[in-house]
Amino acid sequence: MTAARRFAVTVLIGTRPEAIKLAPLVLSLRNDPRFSCRVCVTGQHRTMLRDALRAFDITPDVNLRVMRKDQSLAHVTARLLRSLDGEFHRHRPQLVLVQGDTTTVLCGALAGFYEHIPVAHVEAGLRTGDLRAPWPEEGNRTLTSRIAALHFAPTETSRSNLLREGIAPDRVFVTGNTVIDALRIALDRTRASPARVTGLPPRLLASGDARRVVLITGHRRESFGEPFEQVCRAIGDLATRFADVHFIYPVHLNPRVRAPVEAILGVGAHRPNVHLLAPLGYLAFVRLMQRATLILTDSGGIQEEAPSLGKPVLVMRESTERPEAVAAGTVRLVGTSTSRIFDEVARLLTDADAYRSMAAAHNPYGDGRATPRILDACHDYLVRRAADR
Ligand code: UD1
Ligand code: UDP
Repeated sequence: MTAARRFAVTVLIGTRPEAIKLAPLVLSLRNDPRFSCRVCVTGQHRTMLRDALRAFDITPDVNLRVMRKDQSLAHVTARLLRSLDGEFHRHRPQLVLVQGDTTTVLCGALAGFYEHIPVAHVEAGLRTGDLRAPWPEEGNRTLTSRIAALHFAPTETSRSNLLREGIAPDRVFVTGNTVIDALRIALDRTRASPARVTGLPPRLLASGDARRVVLITGHRRESFGEPFEQVCRAIGDLATRFADVHFIYPVHLNPRVRAPVEAILGVGAHRPNVHLLAPLGYLAFVRLMQRATLILTDSGGIQEEAPSLGKPVLVMRESTERPEAVAAGTVRLVGTSTSRIFDEVARLLTDADAYRSMAAAHNPYGDGRATPRILDACHDYLVRRAADR
């Protein structure tokens, strides 16, 4: 096939999880003679996005740099739409790939829709059925589904959600989640040379070290304020009760997250077994997931990654759009109250049977081959579309 007949695809990336989950597609697209690939980073995130792309050696073709400190949803939406309109006018792709449920995804889908450029939605069909949680992500992904041309559902459950909303079945493909493809790439890379993590006690990551590690992340907007403070108090109480366990927390850069974490768990709290770190690059974070005894999080991606690593995950939310790992027994919803989080973590740290029952490895989110399935479906669609014109 000559270069001139390649289909022009723009991959739109706004935040850390989009970078991780779209990286396998970018790496494959750049080596696939059927496509030409333009990576457009909106820069909804700045350093966290840069660190995620670096793990895969991906350099974007353009960065729209929309991030502002403590940006409101309306402001980032307005900036994104204006910038994406310009980007799509300058470089008219035949297909836009978006992933997940961020503001970048919704704006990418809308800007494409306005320009009659088809949009393919990766990780489509996740639903809690509650527009308030996760907020605003449930709204973003539901609106995106209405206007996307292709829907890549990670599981049968997500496919069913889309069909129930009236999405045409021939536009929905069950592919697995690309996060498993990304995790495999990361595991290969960390095996070759383990990523460095600074700010931890000496030898904590050395192989054979027996100290237990609780890995923590959190950033959901519906938890800002009192729920987040409750989470931090639970971590503080756990660190006092389990003085021999290390609590490692790479803190999200959102100021609404950092403020309570630093106030309640920061240096003034004098807790030698609580380690607050800057957000980690993906390879370093994967290394920590492998090292962790258990993971306490409200992250979507970590709910998908940890089951394949055989790590129990306690999710600090009341509901999840990822029921598969809950059904498999590796993920448990624990909400955000101090006492419930304390009890659930304490149980896994003291009850070996409870721990074992959650620690079996499961792979409900795919076999690591979502990428070729997605690219084949995109190619078929673009060939048919070209023939119809
Ligand atoms: C966003 C997504 C959320 C996703 C999460 C992944 C929306 C509405 N939210 O939430 O769905 O799960 O990313 O982490 O799309 N900041 C920095 N540097 C960075 C990144 C963020 O300083 O590299 C700070 C800035 O002050 C920024 C703030 O964090 O204004 C919020 O960033 P934003 O992308 O709006 O929301 P997140 O809470 O990160
Ligand atoms: N992650 C990372 N560094 C960190 C914390 C998380 O690379 O310090 C990775 C994690 O492995 C997962 C993704 O970031 O793949 C999750 O991102 P986040 O929790 O920000 O967003 P969500 O998945 O909730 O949308």
